[in-house]
Amino acid sequence: MRNQTWATTAMNDRTVTVFGGTGFLGRRVVRHLRKSGFPVRVASRHPERGNTLFGCDDPQLQSVKADIHNERSISDSLVGAYGAVNAVSLYVEHGQETFHSVHVEAAQRVATQAHRAGVERLVHVSGIGSDAASLSLYIRKRGEGELATRAAFADATLIRPAVMFGPDDGFLTIILKLLRRLPIYPMFGRGLTRLQPAYVDDVAEAIARVLQGTETRAITYECGGPRVYSYKEFLRVVAHEAGLRRILIPLPFAAWHVLAWAVEKLPRPPVTRNQVELMQADNVSSREMPGFAELGILPRSVEEILQGML
Ligand SMILES: NC(=O)c1ccc[n+]([C@@H]2O[C@H](COP(=O)([O-])OP(=O)(O)OC[C@H]3O[C@@H](n4cnc5c(N)ncnc54)[C@H](OP(=O)(O)O)[C@@H]3O)[C@@H](O)[C@H]2O)c1
Repeated sequence: MRNQTWATTAMNDRTVTVFGGTGFLGRRVVRHLRKSGFPVRVASRHPERGNTLFGCDDPQLQSVKADIHNERSISDSLVGAYGAVNAVSLYVEHGQETFHSVHVEAAQRVATQAHRAGVERLVHVSGIGSDAASLSLYIRKRGEGELATRAAFADATLIRPAVMFGPDDGFLTIILKLLRRLPIYPMFGRGLTRLQPAYVDDVAEAIARVLQGTETRAITYECGGPRVYSYKEFLRVVAHEAGLRRILIPLPFAAWHVLAWAVEKLPRPPVTRNQVELMQADNVSSREMPGFAELGILPRSVEEILQGML
């Protein structure tokens, strides 16, 4: 907590289950919840990763095996819980793991089971721009997932982060790595898409504060960072901070789609088609929606965090 005092009530009996609690965002949500005093159940398909990440000596932190495609494992993870967070992601479809099965069906399953288990607070993590009417399959399924979640758990809080950055991300670190390697850097289109990157730790803190707060109405928070950049400006800032001078050239989105399709099957694809689709529309928080400010958080800038990553 940096800019104001946040009331901390006794959270000892308020267990929160974090689905996806071993992920890029989820692991930070777990840490912020623990810092706020909540006992936490980390639910994912690989609970051993939870033990590696958080250690085994905290009696208030438990890693459990859960697959959100399986109703029973969800309900078992929610027994006696006060709150639940759904921070599960899927960026590339494979086999039965589709955007529909994860972001819509499984999101609804988590919400339904949370409601049945008497969970008081559900936080569903989605993304800025989620839209059930979008032509992009990924963006449409994120929008349908929000509706499905609220249909099953009317007061669910929706957290829509902008693109997130952090030391172990798949965004800033990749840009930095490529800028270091490539004297001529290909941009998404003409680099005009507007972005408002948010520091992953600030988003995690926002989720913990939602669960600490007393507001229980269905609210959607859009969490964008302190500055809006065009993609081109963003690349210039990162290159400048890293002490690099680079030539930025436009590359049409159609070419990016072909490239992403070709590399998507790699274990850690450098770019995916849904990322390309997300880069085709501005990704900026709406002024009409609550966000970091309403949660008393002063979001940190890319420039500030980059200093520790160089
Ligand atoms: N990263 C960004 O820039 C960004 C921006 C906006 C919104 N978001 C949203 O933020 C959320 C979290 O994203 P992230 O980047 O932190 O994801 P991530 O790093 O890929 O983590 C995903 C987590 O979900 C778990 N998981 C995956 N499938 C599961 C299943 N079937 N059952 C149970 N757990 C499962 C994973 O653990 P196991 O594999 O062990 O199960 C892991 O803990 C997502 O909703 C994402 O769309 C992310």
